[in-house]
Amino acid sequence: MSTQASPTTITHEIASRMKGPSAKILVLGATSGIAEATCRIWAAQGASLFLVARNPEKLAAVAADLRVRGARFVDTAVADLDDTENHASLLAHAVNALTGMDVAYLAHGILGDQARAEQDFNQAAQIFHTNLIAPVSLLTWLSNYCVQRHAGVLAVISSVAGDRGRKSNYAYGASKAGLSAFLGGLRNRVDREGVTVLTIKPGPVRTAMTGHMPGSQKFADVNAVAKSIVAAIAAKKDNLYVPFQWQPIMFIIRNIPDRIFKKLNL
Ligand SMILES: NC(=O)c1ccc[n+]([C@@H]2O[C@H](COP(=O)([O-])OP(=O)(O)OC[C@H]3O[C@@H](n4cnc5c(N)ncnc54)[C@H](OP(=O)(O)O)[C@@H]3O)[C@@H](O)[C@H]2O)c1
Repeated sequence: MSTQASPTTITHEIASRMKGPSAKILVLGATSGIAEATCRIWAAQGASLFLVARNPEKLAAVAADLRVRGARFVDTAVADLDDTENHASLLAHAVNALTGMDVAYLAHGILGDQARAEQDFNQAAQIFHTNLIAPVSLLTWLSNYCVQRHAGVLAVISSVAGDRGRKSNYAYGASKAGLSAFLGGLRNRVDREGVTVLTIKPGPVRTAMTGHMPGSQKFADVNAVAKSIVAAIAAKKDNLYVPFQWQPIMFIIRNIPDRIFKKLNL
């Protein structure tokens, strides 16, 4: 007699784990300020976490903190996520260590240097590689894993910057626009297979990425942002603007005619 669980059984098991304390969560870019704050909430809920980041010291510190905060299980892997060749083996190892996966949370990214990107194609290419090509590679593997099981949430941090290119950061914005469009298409493909794709679009948040920016002390608090992300993943939402007021703000910004927009200093 076969002991293999049917896709329906797997879906029900995962749905109940998402409500309870034992969700199995893979975090890519786990040392990011937003990811770390999100993981602290999951740890307090007793989740199992597999953390991937490229800085071993920071990663070890984050993992130790999450164990103290109550995570049921924490394992780690050091990886530069720009190395797409290693993605398949990294992800297979992570899912194996977690003995399954309910949520994959993609949080890594770089702001890059817009002024440099205007002069040096290599800088623009680096921004596109880290923010778009690497996530596309990760999501190709992860989406097929979830489709096979007819379950799972793929939660990915894009940005409001992807909603309209602006002169101050259009290389970064375009990389996130590509990511948001990819996620929209992926959702359209995998939703019917029982897989959720959540596009997270934060406005400016106080983290290491934005600490150097003027006015950054007024940016959103990372813990409040993390709380909204945890809730959106649990509710299996499709899209999250966070803080929520960025949804109407970006609606207005997207609809400003180019003849006006091109004269603005944004
Ligand atoms: N903060 C904001 O205002 C804001 C707004 C909208 C969207 N976002 C997005 O939110 C996500 C998290 O950003 P954050 O604000 O938390 O900034 P952060 O603290 O600077 O985190 C970025 C993380 O990405 C990691 N990373 C970059 N390139 C990597 C690579 N090749 N391999 C592995 N890890 C890599 C960094 O690792 P290292 O520490 O080793 O450099 C860092 O942990 C990013 O996707 C960002 O674009 C942020």
